[in-house]
Amino acid sequence: MPTDLHAWNALLQHHDTIRDTPMREWFDDANAERRVSAFSVEAAGLYLDYSKNRITPETFDLLMRLAEEAGVPCRREAMFTGEHINATEDRAALHVALRALPDAPFRVDGVSVMPGIHDVLRRMQDFSERVRGGKWTGHTGETITDVVNIGIGGSDLGPRMVCRALAHLADRVGPRMHFVSNVDGTELAETLVRLNPARTLVIVCSKTFTTLETMANACSMRDWFLTHGVPEHHLACHFVAVSTNTEAVRKFGIDPANMFEFWDWIGGRFSLWSSVGLSIALAVGFDAFEDLLRGARAMDDHFRTAPLAQNMPVVMAMLGIWYRNFFNMPTSCMAPYSTSLELFPAFLQQLEMESNGKSVQLDGRHVRAHTSPVVWGTAGTNGQHAYFQMIHQGSQIVPVDFVAPLVPPRELPGHHAKLLANCFAQAEALMRGRSAEELHAAGVTDPARVPHMVFEGNRPSNTLLMEDLTPHVLGALIALYEHRTFVQGVVWNINSFDQWGVELGKILARPIEGELKGDGSDGSDVSDGAHDASTRSLIARARAVLSRQTSVPSN
Ligand code: F6P
Repeated sequence: MPTDLHAWNALLQHHDTIRDTPMREWFDDANAERRVSAFSVEAAGLYLDYSKNRITPETFDLLMRLAEEAGVPCRREAMFTGEHINATEDRAALHVALRALPDAPFRVDGVSVMPGIHDVLRRMQDFSERVRGGKWTGHTGETITDVVNIGIGGSDLGPRMVCRALAHLADRVGPRMHFVSNVDGTELAETLVRLNPARTLVIVCSKTFTTLETMANACSMRDWFLTHGVPEHHLACHFVAVSTNTEAVRKFGIDPANMFEFWDWIGGRFSLWSSVGLSIALAVGFDAFEDLLRGARAMDDHFRTAPLAQNMPVVMAMLGIWYRNFFNMPTSCMAPYSTSLELFPAFLQQLEMESNGKSVQLDGRHVRAHTSPVVWGTAGTNGQHAYFQMIHQGSQIVPVDFVAPLVPPRELPGHHAKLLANCFAQAEALMRGRSAEELHAAGVTDPARVPHMVFEGNRPSNTLLMEDLTPHVLGALIALYEHRTFVQGVVWNINSFDQWGVELGKILARPIEGELKGDGSDGSDVSDGAHDASTRSLIARARAVLSRQTSVPSN
């Protein structure tokens, strides 16, 4: 139990002594510069300033003791050495091997995984260069101009986010990328109207190759090709698969020769470094994809070797624990000050909440502490004009991670200084706040307004800076958050690599689909007696509308 650890209890006591201390006191005294240098760290092209947190050197030492006592170094080694740390699925979690050098000693069950990984990487390189170079063509011999990645969750969010973040590197050589994830047909239908079937390539990306959304979209995509003049025997030019499930890929009708393999010891949300990143290699080129891997590897090396107190993922993880478990803050905000990183919060939602949204420990007992916070956020400055009011003056405190490239991926004169100024100003305002005295000094004396204009401050944030948004630094950034997530899971003593919580809804959806169609298809039982009254009434309401729609001939 994390709550039984000495450091946990020492932190509880320490929290009582520190919880009301305003951070600005630490910034107003002569040691402020020293605080900033003590509470900042650099690694793999990233600079983290974590001085605007509600911590003293004593807090920090206790947090590091907690990491040590919870077994972070030992679990970290277990991950890097391919132990089956994903205990409920009896699997290793070895995504770090995907970005390692060919001669790295990564093994699963005694067998080196490196030859397999590098074999797939070479195939990805060859394929992406053929498509980008116009040598892989559609069935009429025309070059591929558009690629649709069909996948969901980890088979979508990671590559979609990276393609968005590196869009400034997408050249005219590469095809346009489209991502379709939702089973809501609107997404696919809206994508299809922009495509020419003769020049479109589809990547069906699914670890299991059984996911309902992905298979439904893949089937509709196949129908679209067939009804738009692509003969069945030419479909192979337009479909490739990324999966661990060769049999299902074959059954769907994709030649396993056109399948890019990955392995069950890679969790979906940790998979963008594998063939799941094929769309990235197609969009920005294989060299850039390799640079992404190199950046992640630099962060892996740092995570594995740096002492805990100078270890960026460990420091960030423990700060998160401090707020989640000792201040009881239920959410945390990711605020990238970069439109290029606008999808990073969505990626992080799956990474953190699917990994650490658990309430049962590794040993099957209930965790007695809160686990994953709700993760949310959007790109700045947009968030400032939507929800930052709540972050500044709301009744719940939200720790914020500000992330900003110092050099803009694309520059229009004058914009970037404004963007950065806002980023830094938000962090400063959250920390300092504004007192009634300061308002008076600024001439605001109306007693009816002053209380509304006071900012309590003392609201924590991290600021994470990078020079340019290169593939390398992006790789490091993603790996940073992967390891941060893992460390928190270790402290909470949970399995960050399974996701049983998403299963039940999927199972229950199957019979409901049959009931909505009213035909018992999908092997479902059309009798609705098994549902609760609310679900029964929702199904009946939907069925009434659906049956009306199907009985009206469309024009
Ligand atoms: O529904 C959860 C989940 O299993 C994720 O963990 C995973 O990333 C996603 O579905 C997609 O799974 P697959 O790649 O097997 O289609």
